[in-house]
Amino acid sequence: MNEQIFSHIVPDSKAIVLEQGCGVGRNIPLILDSMGIDELSGGKVHAVDFSHEALDLAKEKLSNPVNVVFHKGNMSQLSFADETFNAVFDIFAGTYMPIKGWKLGVIETFRVMKPGGRAYFLYFIHGRNFGSLFKKQVIDEFFHNPAGLYWAMHLKLVRGLNVWDKFIANGDVVYPEWEELLDIIKFSGGIVEVAEESFLGACIFVRAIKS
Ligand SMILES: C[S@@+](CC[C@H](N)C(=O)[O-])C[C@H]1O[C@@H](n2cnc3c(N)ncnc32)[C@H](O)[C@@H]1O
Repeated sequence: MNEQIFSHIVPDSKAIVLEQGCGVGRNIPLILDSMGIDELSGGKVHAVDFSHEALDLAKEKLSNPVNVVFHKGNMSQLSFADETFNAVFDIFAGTYMPIKGWKLGVIETFRVMKPGGRAYFLYFIHGRNFGSLFKKQVIDEFFHNPAGLYWAMHLKLVRGLNVWDKFIANGDVVYPEWEELLDIIKFSGGIVEVAEESFLGACIFVRAIKS
């Protein structure tokens, strides 16, 4: 998943970047690297999450690099001025807001982005159950290798994915349909440049430029 999204990044070492819903910051080193941002380049990553526990872990893990600024905030109501950023990333974040909150996140993405800026979205697709797809792949791969299947089960991989299936099924998380995501990007002033399925067909990757 990460390889796919990061191979589509348009580098800009001076870019002012936002990551919405940064979680524990696992994407930040990859964003810095793919954008070409370092301590001297002038670029910066602003990382927002509404979980202070996640932000604390991210700060600890990344040991507070000078070109990363963390903010506690709500991605459906960002505190940044219009046209602040050259690039915005939403990697499995917008869709974790309750009941289609991701649409507000997309509108905010384009509000805070400069014209010509690029947005990168990676979301699960509605109806494509990652747990089932991944389980099927594990089972297919290990079908001729009983020892491998035994270990996959022993490691609780398959059981863990059953828990995931239930989490999605209870409706707290509402993933978008392809068309819904493309429509809201257009509505928000974005032009889609890249749109691909990813990760066994369970995810949508979209790169869009602000007109
Ligand atoms: C599945 S995690 C993904 C984290 C990170 N983007 C990654 O790829 O590792 C979703 C993150 O979105 C954050 N989040 C969900 N709704 C949010 C909101 N309304 N405002 C800010 N952060 C939010 C959660 O706290 C969580 O850290």
